[in-house]
Amino acid sequence: MKFKNIVPTQVERILADNEFIISKTDTKGKITYGNRPFNDYSGFSENELLGVQHNIVRHPDMPRAVFKLLWDEVQTGREVFAFVKNLSKDGSFYWVFANVTPSFDMKKTSWVTSLCAENPSAVHYPKLRISIKKC
Ligand SMILES: Cc1cc2nc3c(=O)[nH]c(=O)nc-3n(C[C@H](O)[C@H](O)[C@H](O)COP(=O)(O)O)c2cc1C
Repeated sequence: MKFKNIVPTQVERILADNEFIISKTDTKGKITYGNRPFNDYSGFSENELLGVQHNIVRHPDMPRAVFKLLWDEVQTGREVFAFVKNLSKDGSFYWVFANVTPSFDMKKTSWVTSLCAENPSAVHYPKLRISIKKC
């Protein structure tokens, strides 16, 4: 991985109450979309994020079992909620409460959407919005 030498620090970044990180991957975990807060909090540009594995923001403190569960659930069509500590490009970290949902388009091509907020109660609003727009 291109950015594997990031040294984690103890600096925490806190998402604002009204901010949501939205990212999408293909079924292999490669990022296909990220909104502006995803760029801002991860510290990576759109060019650096698109087409690379979502583990680009994996923090070494996160247990592997969490991601195994995430993928097992999503691959069987279920959504997952999880607290995730992510690593920014500058070594700082940010916690999110993630809702990862499998989605399908008209051709049954699947992709995966992740909505993240600092506060778990905040995730419900964008989740509703996403399902209406079918993005
Ligand atoms: C839609 C979606 C969003 C994801 N978001 C994150 C994330 O924010 N942080 C993270 O570490 N892994 C995230 N993952 C999981 C990664 O794909 C990967 O499994 C994890 O980082 C562990 O990577 P590794 O086993 O290669 O070390 C996400 C996966 C999907 C499908």
